[in-house]
Amino acid sequence: MTHNHGMYGDHAHYYDAIYHWKAYDKDAARLHEILAQAGIPDGATVLEAACGTGSHMLHLKQWYHLSGFDLSNDMLNFARQKLPGLPGRPGLAGLPGAGAGVKLFQADMTDFTLDRPVDALLCLFSSIGYIHPEDRLRAAARCFAAALRTGGALIVEPWIAPEDFIDGRPWLNTYDSDQLKLCRMVISQREGEMSILDFHWMAARAGAKEVERFVERHINWLCPRQTMLSVFNDAGFDCRLEPDGLMKGRGLIVGQKR
Ligand SMILES: C[S@@+](CC[C@H](N)C(=O)[O-])C[C@H]1O[C@@H](n2cnc3c(N)ncnc32)[C@H](O)[C@@H]1O
Repeated sequence: MTHNHGMYGDHAHYYDAIYHWKAYDKDAARLHEILAQAGIPDGATVLEAACGTGSHMLHLKQWYHLSGFDLSNDMLNFARQKLPGLPGRPGLAGLPGAGAGVKLFQADMTDFTLDRPVDALLCLFSSIGYIHPEDRLRAAARCFAAALRTGGALIVEPWIAPEDFIDGRPWLNTYDSDQLKLCRMVISQREGEMSILDFHWMAARAGAKEVERFVERHINWLCPRQTMLSVFNDAGFDCRLEPDGLMKGRGLIVGQKR
């Protein structure tokens, strides 16, 4: 069995299936609420960093003018199918931003620039956990700050806090349709401040001769919340931890660009 990063790469076609349980519509409604509280109105420009297959944007586009990027072109290809709006396509009458095209591009969170700053920047589903060590997180925070206008809003959904991570816990995710059956198992491991997740996949596709098996390793930083807050503060944000976030126990870093 080989180690690779298949779920975001050559196995990106399994991503939406294995996360079919995730309530992206509810997440979007909560993000809309938090952005409104932060003074970001409907019709604002919003950038999603590490947007993956674009499921948050699918629901956020009713309110905002969106753009998004990811490191993985395989993930972006699925986002492009979901968000077929081309740049410059006119919005529909009624809701500001509704139906407008979503600009998608390939970039690295730790090293990107925008032509024009946006009103809000989102980084969700713990994508920030892939950014380590600390100097890379600082580089990402500086890029996020440069991408936002003064007074703009930042929402980052962190990875699990070190005190909440359970070492040695088994996890199982499945997906079951006529065409595709997926099973993904892992026993969570901890090495210092890093979580090591070796996902063991089995995939049965209609018409295939054999069940496909592969293993992929994800190494994420169990960054203490105080470290994350101070990194974003140092990069030019006033930040707080919002405990009532999207996923249970993860909370959100909510910041305003000074
Ligand atoms: C857990 S997925 C989240 C995707 C999407 N935000 C969602 O909620 O479904 C993590 C994403 O982070 C992306 N990613 C990892 N490192 C990155 C980096 N340095 N720059 C941009 N994207 C990155 C991966 O390609 C993947 O799409």
